[in-house]
Amino acid sequence: MEKKNLGALVSGRGSNLQSIMDACAAGKIPARVAVVISDYSEAYALERARQSGITAVAVNPSDYPDKAAYEQYIVQVLQEHGVHLVCLAGYMRLVGATLLDAFTGRIMNIHPALLPAFPGLHGQEQAWRYGVKYSGCTVHFVDGGMDTGPIILQAVVPVYDDDTADTLADRILEQEHRIYPEAVRLYCEDKLIVEGRKVRIWT
Ligand code: GRF
Repeated sequence: MEKKNLGALVSGRGSNLQSIMDACAAGKIPARVAVVISDYSEAYALERARQSGITAVAVNPSDYPDKAAYEQYIVQVLQEHGVHLVCLAGYMRLVGATLLDAFTGRIMNIHPALLPAFPGLHGQEQAWRYGVKYSGCTVHFVDGGMDTGPIILQAVVPVYDDDTADTLADRILEQEHRIYPEAVRLYCEDKLIVEGRKVRIWT
């Protein structure tokens, strides 16, 4: 199977990026991470990319007159690297129309809660504060909303009485590192069929 090129957008430590890079390197996903782009030049995720010999690009949003111009540059970099699928991996911005239009149906995100519950920032802490007995994580396609796109995979974890927001986040993160590479693999093997809000997995 022909390898696909992945582009990753990151803002922070990049542990999900690492799980995808590792799965590609191990031959578990028929893809390569072609470029990693961050809106924050100090993001450790950029360092992880460099350590793996992957092009790492920092783009400072305040260098651009508006979001459209900022995203147009990101689109250009992604296209220059022949990117098929964009993986948001801890990217702390809402994707705008410029990026969405250029990569319609080809942007994925991982969220640390069972969507549609607890969208937005700090999904793990929101769930822990609410007092749910189970939480988890969700890989979804990205649309114009905040964590609203069609759901690809979810994993459930229990919440224990002695959990803190941090211990719960750690338990969820383990599952993120399992299901994000898996969702990317399914996409790269052309096994995801999107029908409206439903994503079916072709077996
Ligand atoms: C993860 O919890 C992910 O679910 C959320 O942002 C965090 C990124 O962590 N979208 P990392 O940078 O991948 O380590």
